[in-house]
Amino acid sequence: MSRINYKSMILTASQFLLYLLFIPALSSAADTLSVNQSLSGNQTLVSLNGNFEMGFFRPGNSSNFYIGIWFNKTIVTNERVVWVANRDSPVSDSFTSILKIIDGNLVLLNESNSLVWSTYMNSTATAVSATLLDDGNLVLRYGSGSSLSIWQSFDHPTHTFMPGMKLLYNKRTNTSQVLTSWRNAEDPGMGLFSLELDHNNKQFLIKWNRSVVYWTSGSWNDGDKLFRVEPEMRLNYIYNFSYVDNENESYFTYSLYNPSIISRFIIDIPGQVKQLSWLDSTREWNLFWPQPRDLCDVYGGCLIAFKPSSKNDWNLGSFSSGCVRKTEVNCSITIEKPTFLLSYVNKSFLSAFLENEAQQLDESACRCSCLHDCVCNAYTFISSKCQHWNRENLNKISLGFVSNDSYLEKSQFHIKVASKDLPYLTENSCKYNKDVNRGAVVGSIAVVVFVLCVILFMVRRRKTMILVGKTTMEGSLMA
Ligand SMILES: *[C@@H]1O[C@H](CO)[C@@H](O)[C@H](O)[C@H]1NC(C)=O
Ligand SMILES: *[C@@H]1O[C@H](CO)[C@@H](O)[C@H](O)[C@H]1NC(C)=O
Ligand SMILES: *[C@@H]1O[C@H](CO)[C@@H](O)[C@H](O)[C@H]1NC(C)=O
Ligand SMILES: *[C@@H]1O[C@H](CO)[C@@H](O)[C@H](O)[C@H]1NC(C)=O
Ligand SMILES: *[C@@H]1O[C@H](CO)[C@@H](O)[C@H](O)[C@H]1NC(C)=O
Ligand SMILES: *[C@@H]1O[C@H](CO)[C@@H](O)[C@H](O)[C@H]1NC(C)=O
Ligand SMILES: *[C@@H]1O[C@H](CO)[C@@H](O)[C@H](O)[C@H]1NC(C)=O
Ligand SMILES: *[C@@H]1O[C@H](CO)[C@@H](O)[C@H](O)[C@H]1NC(C)=O
Ligand SMILES: *[C@@H]1O[C@H](CO)[C@@H](O)[C@H](O)[C@H]1NC(C)=O
Ligand SMILES: *[C@@H]1O[C@H](CO)[C@@H](O)[C@H](O)[C@H]1NC(C)=O
Ligand SMILES: *[C@@H]1O[C@H](CO)[C@@H](O)[C@H](O)[C@H]1NC(C)=O
Ligand SMILES: *[C@@H]1O[C@H](CO)[C@@H](O)[C@H](O)[C@H]1NC(C)=O
Repeated sequence: MSRINYKSMILTASQFLLYLLFIPALSSAADTLSVNQSLSGNQTLVSLNGNFEMGFFRPGNSSNFYIGIWFNKTIVTNERVVWVANRDSPVSDSFTSILKIIDGNLVLLNESNSLVWSTYMNSTATAVSATLLDDGNLVLRYGSGSSLSIWQSFDHPTHTFMPGMKLLYNKRTNTSQVLTSWRNAEDPGMGLFSLELDHNNKQFLIKWNRSVVYWTSGSWNDGDKLFRVEPEMRLNYIYNFSYVDNENESYFTYSLYNPSIISRFIIDIPGQVKQLSWLDSTREWNLFWPQPRDLCDVYGGCLIAFKPSSKNDWNLGSFSSGCVRKTEVNCSITIEKPTFLLSYVNKSFLSAFLENEAQQLDESACRCSCLHDCVCNAYTFISSKCQHWNRENLNKISLGFVSNDSYLEKSQFHIKVASKDLPYLTENSCKYNKDVNRGAVVGSIAVVVFVLCVILFMVRRRKTMILVGKTTMEGSLMA
């Protein structure tokens, strides 16, 4: 007792006084925040049966705080969050920021008492309480006893589709509710990928930047209760999807056949929808399926032999800044034998950007001429004509991705990569115009790969497609 820190005691005492004066204590494990109460620091609301918890959280090592709702019973910090209020407007200190009801809205004030987030209702009826329900829904009500909600978090989804939530199209306002991926593991802000309802075709879509559709579930068949293209989305018998269509709205909703399962249906950071279930035995999330199955089928995802250009992005699972070769290939590096990766690009793109005059060569000679040309980064061999791509920037072509056009409008594009980064076609020595036989073999392998690709493409019946003939190792990396 000889070395009392008076300064901190005074501070603590005054803080406590402040607390008593202005912030009525939130009883521990309350599920409701009433008008005149506030939530800050590590205080949380806990739903009645303890299923969900709500309060400030920090994603990963981020220095920012967000108001979120998370599964109480799972442990992996980021992967328990199902909803984020201020996803694009974080606060930097949870203890001096407060969440409270002001003028009928639930609002978040930052350390300088500025409004950073609100439920933004103009309703004349003012909310007086916010309750966290056991299904993870946060509802604002006129009174704590009232059952009528005037705002609910289920109507403002972030990246998780919860049982009982509607993913809807509002026919009166012509607006869709959209799930949007996080930017990265440390930033729950609006990412580039979104899951929405296509009410004309009763299906889910994933879009890039709210514009480019690169995946569809296929239309919902009410009779079989299956999606035409992706039946496995329900074949695990965990999700009981249903589709509702009336004069006001169309929507998908679902329930869990076994309500005691803790499951997440999310649009993940790299642009895949995933269904995961929590396994108590291993205390981790078990991935049932990602869609699209392959990360390379995600718009802007990286082709095999490529990696995201920003290391940070890679670690955080986001590919927004484009892709670069895993191993550089240029003439100063002779150890890494280069070879070619078959991809596809938009035909009009090619005609606008190919570098040299088309040459009449056979395919193996074309291939070899690019291989031996230090500045050649890729070649095309179309209608017996050989052309080189000498630019380094392969991001510009979205690395093989071609948006909604049909297969026939696409062209083969052979990108120079290090052979060690490809699990196939490893033998590729090429002696320009000298070893014709070998060249012919390599050429015919390329044709076989190409034919396989066409077949694979037909089988997959995808509207969009990126790369073929690769392993699934890329896809599983982010799982
Ligand atoms: C909230 O505080 C205001 C002003 O102090 C008071 O008039 C009002 O009755 C309080 N409301 C509740 C529900 O306690
Ligand atoms: C909540 O924050 C206070 C003040 O920093 C701290 O003393 C307390 O241990 C925290 N409680 C929990 C459960 O983390
Ligand atoms: C979280 O769940 C556990 C297990 O059901 C429960 O014991 C605990 O009280 C819950 N946490 C909170 C803060 O309610
Ligand atoms: C946070 O940083 C530490 C140290 O740099 C690192 O070990 C840890 O994996 C990081 N955690 C997350 C969630 O990124
Ligand atoms: C609080 O939010 C306001 C408005 O967004 C911003 O100008 C201010 O810098 C923030 N204060 C702090 C301490 O972050
Ligand atoms: C609230 O009113 C403002 C101004 O009248 C309007 O711009 C805004 O769209 C309204 N918000 C909602 C949610 O209706
Ligand atoms: C919504 O779309 C329908 C059909 O395209 C159109 O008739 C209607 O006027 C639109 N309503 C609004 C509010 O934009
Ligand atoms: C997304 O689209 C908007 C316009 O709708 C555009 O301004 C923005 O640059 C696009 N983002 C990217 C990463 O291309
Ligand atoms: C599946 O959902 C529908 C619509 O909500 C419901 O009528 C049906 O009983 C559910 N089936 C099961 C087995 O839970
Ligand atoms: C559509 O909205 C109107 C007006 O809010 C309501 O009266 C009607 O019952 C709604 N229809 C359905 C099928 O929910
Ligand atoms: C070739 O690779 C080396 C090593 O990464 C690099 O320093 C050099 O700039 C590259 N040359 C060209 C022309 O890209
Ligand atoms: C094909 O590429 C050209 C040139 O980049 C672009 O203008 C066009 O929109 C692309 N077409 C499709 C269907 O992506």
